Amino acid sequence: MPDETISVIDNRTGRRYEIPIRDGAIGAADLQKITTDGPAAGLMSYDPAFLNTAACRSAITFIDGDKGILRYRGYPIEQLAENATFLEVAWLLRHGELPDQKQYDQFVHDITYHTYVHENFRKFLEGFRYDAHPMAMLNSSIAGLASFYPSARNIFDENERNISIIRLLAKTPTIAAFSYRHVKGLPFVYPDNRLSYVENFLSMIARMSESKYEANPTFARALEILFILHADHEQNASTNAVRSVGSSHVDPFSAVSAGVAALFGPLHGGANEQVLRMITEIGNVKNVPKFIEGVKSGEGGRLMGFGHRVYKSYDPRAKIVKRLADDVFKVVGVDKDLEIALELERIALSDDYFTSRKLYPNVDFYTGLIYRSMAFPTDFFTVLFAIARMAGWLAQWEEMLLDKEQKIARPRQLYIGPAERPYRSKLKNSVS
Ligand code: ACO
Repeated sequence: MPDETISVIDNRTGRRYEIPIRDGAIGAADLQKITTDGPAAGLMSYDPAFLNTAACRSAITFIDGDKGILRYRGYPIEQLAENATFLEVAWLLRHGELPDQKQYDQFVHDITYHTYVHENFRKFLEGFRYDAHPMAMLNSSIAGLASFYPSARNIFDENERNISIIRLLAKTPTIAAFSYRHVKGLPFVYPDNRLSYVENFLSMIARMSESKYEANPTFARALEILFILHADHEQNASTNAVRSVGSSHVDPFSAVSAGVAALFGPLHGGANEQVLRMITEIGNVKNVPKFIEGVKSGEGGRLMGFGHRVYKSYDPRAKIVKRLADDVFKVVGVDKDLEIALELERIALSDDYFTSRKLYPNVDFYTGLIYRSMAFPTDFFTVLFAIARMAGWLAQWEEMLLDKEQKIARPRQLYIGPAERPYRSKLKNSVS
């Protein structure tokens, strides 16, 4: 029995139980010991949407939501965003330490030489409608990769895991860019091995007839920083989906496609798209007070890009994104709707409805304006998030797989349906 325990007296039976506390948590399985000897089984905990349930131990990302702190493997997000590359961060998330030069060079080489996708992928992507949402294309394409790499199902073979992780990090930008070009009706641009990860992605998006694409350095660095900021965020909805699906020991392509699906939702990664749609709908700064009133009365929907399950003060990523927006606007001019966003933020931060609920701008509030300034279409914003989050999903997937405490994720339920009843058909010609 550990030093720290909690004593529980079951008022139904008068029995007393000592429940161990480990790392600030009690084990939900320990509650099963609390029983009445009657027909009811041991006690369960009830926690819809995991408001207060830790589903794993993780050494990857630390968040202090009250203080607005985010760290990857102990490194503050501000320092990584300022100084690191995205691939350095991807390595860090998976391996727990920053790569040395040799490890980094090898990693960059491996990623660079796995960016091509099988030619059949062209046909696969060409099968989508001209107006397909790029997240729907990305989701099914990532799942489809499993059909090209059947040996990826050997998930307990380290070499297989390694190559699958490299393939996913390398090919996701290619698939994303091909989806973009498909919707635009433009020919696919193949990867250019001379370019960095981010520059190559921008080349596959924007290159036309030039022999080598020269990315705008401000855009390339801004995107690199945005990828770092979005790379991981501990047990968010999409990571939880990846871990949960992966816990059935399916291949990693199938597991992370569940993450793409969860990210698509407007309450999660899809919020960046919705923020821009909301701002466009508001249309003019003078309409902001009315819009805010609509949010407060519940008739106007939510203020997208505000609020977070964990952050109860300013999202540290949002601070960095706001500064980044200034850098991008210096190159392309200030976004026409920045004024609306600033006014929304100003009013919300001084309004009791938002402050009492601790609703602050999250990472998605300003990213849309940056992406639009770089000429990305609105429905492509969440794809950019997915490219970055792939690094976190894969690190979390592998951590889950190697964690001896983990089993197939299988929650319990509180059954509230009918008690047993006899079958009496309501159909006309029933045999009963
Ligand atoms: N606008 C208005 N009211 C809000 C908002 C918002 N954006 N977010 C929460 N609230 C209110 C709720 O109505 C609720 O009020 P009540 O107590 O009077 O009922 C209270 O604040 C608590 O909200 P919950 O929904 O219980 O908070 P939860 O932690 O479940 O939700 C979430 C977090 C989904 C992020 C929510 O704040 C939201 O919908 N935000 C808008 C969408 C968004 O920006 N999502 C991106 C999140 S960041 C990311 O995934 C990358």
